[in-house]
Amino acid sequence: MANETEISRRRTFAIISHPDAGKTTLTEKLLLFGGQIQVAGAVKNNKIKKSATSDWMEIEKQRGISVTTSVMEFDYQDYKINILDTPGHQDFAEDTFRTLTAVDSVIIVVDSAKGVEAQTRKLMEVCRMRNTPVIIYANKMDREGKDPFDLLDELEEELQIAVRPLSWPIDQGPRFKGVYNLYENKLNLFQPDKQVMTEKVEVDVSSEELDAQIGTTAAVQLREDLELIEGVYPEFEQETYLSAQVAPVFFGSALNNFGVQELLDCFVQIAPSPQPIEAIEREVIPQEDKFTGFIFKITANIDPNHRSCVAFCKICSGRFERNKPYLHVRNGKTIRFSSPTQFMAQRKTTVEEAFAGDIIGLPDNGIFKIGDTLTSGEDLHFKGLPSFSPLMFKYIENSDPMKQKQLAKGIDQLMDEGVAQLFVNQFNGRKVVGTVGQLQFEVIQYRLEHEYNASCRWEPLSLFKACWIESDDEAELESFKKRKYQYMAKDRAGRDVFLADSNYVLQMAQQDFKGIRFHFTSEF
Ligand code: G4P
Repeated sequence: MANETEISRRRTFAIISHPDAGKTTLTEKLLLFGGQIQVAGAVKNNKIKKSATSDWMEIEKQRGISVTTSVMEFDYQDYKINILDTPGHQDFAEDTFRTLTAVDSVIIVVDSAKGVEAQTRKLMEVCRMRNTPVIIYANKMDREGKDPFDLLDELEEELQIAVRPLSWPIDQGPRFKGVYNLYENKLNLFQPDKQVMTEKVEVDVSSEELDAQIGTTAAVQLREDLELIEGVYPEFEQETYLSAQVAPVFFGSALNNFGVQELLDCFVQIAPSPQPIEAIEREVIPQEDKFTGFIFKITANIDPNHRSCVAFCKICSGRFERNKPYLHVRNGKTIRFSSPTQFMAQRKTTVEEAFAGDIIGLPDNGIFKIGDTLTSGEDLHFKGLPSFSPLMFKYIENSDPMKQKQLAKGIDQLMDEGVAQLFVNQFNGRKVVGTVGQLQFEVIQYRLEHEYNASCRWEPLSLFKACWIESDDEAELESFKKRKYQYMAKDRAGRDVFLADSNYVLQMAQQDFKGIRFHFTSEF
């Protein structure tokens, strides 16, 4: 097996959080430590402002930047770090779910004052489904927050995963003095300076030196806390973290650069290198000689002067080389890529080669769909790009009879990109677009107009959930479809989807048709 050294030094992960917990700040600080940026503030521009719920043009402006910052890669110590960015705005949650299929581990940022919030819970569900190892960074310790033990209990309960602190805060808010690094047994003292790295002091917790450094009251408290931690939490074992049974927790303050380097240093050591991935035909091992990869994200550049898209390909095995012929499995064609790109903090560069674990950007003029597989010739299909039941639904109608074709093409291509989900109602033939939030409808309408010269209008549709249905009992399935014929639809893959208009209706259906399984994600 070639490429072994290159692959084992790769760490491909995503940082996820509820908006405002500090994801952008932490990402930026990791880039700072990785030597990728010199000043804080460089990544910030990429952020979609949460307040601008419908300022679509503003988002557009920022998307230009997000193409290059969708993936950030840098070398740190002997490791190659690939951070996959996820959109902060919750209306683009589906994009985040897909990104999670391309990572080997995840760092979850929580605001230590707010604890676990809705979006974090949802994202953790996705991690759990895929057994992705997670590390938790409890941010904003410089603010008055929850008691750390209470926070750990909350994390355990709300995220349904055992936790193990690997660093411990010494007080918090204005009295925050630093953290005790349980992984290295070192004391890191807090210096509230945004640009200066903190100093590590080696202190034996039982020595008087500790009292001298942080004061007797804090020292007594720390000793008590550490004793309690040792008593309550089992010893940290890398294995249990890698098998997604335990989430290590670090405390810190990303804004103040505090606890970030500790996190990074520990992360590169314990986080998984590229892992085997299940394809329909077989398991693909990263170290295999032959290249394989899949497209997990397509980003359109809507600048009318450069109407190209970038398809993001996760390399699952082997080595990718520029200009080498690869098989696009879905359409059976062989393609050479003359300008594959990789992404540094703020720039795109053409790459000659890339290895399993890396993400490359491929220019896309409409040849790719989310989930497409590329190989060195093998007929292989990666599975598991889940679609979740949308939360909002609307009928999409043509509002210009002369442009029916443009609209159909536009809808088709936008759905290929994964902008939203499309269902066709089997009763009336109408197209239903499902999204996570209102913003996506605006995005679709705007893009149909500007990229496809088509115009659409939305008609309200009140639905509770889209459920993918299946049963071993063909007759029962048929009788259900007959009974619910007005609410039956097909997704783009032609699967049966029941559009339940209320929770009550869904519960009744589940009760009346016990032989039918109702799924809220397309992957089951
Ligand atoms: P997000 O990407 O998860 O949405 O969060 P982001 O990093 O943008 O952080 C949200 C807000 O929290 C920002 O303030 C940021 O400065 C602040 N923040 C991040 N880390 C810390 C921390 O460790 N301590 C404290 N006290 N604050 C932190 P903002 O006012 O929304 O933005 P800005 O004006 O500072 O840019």
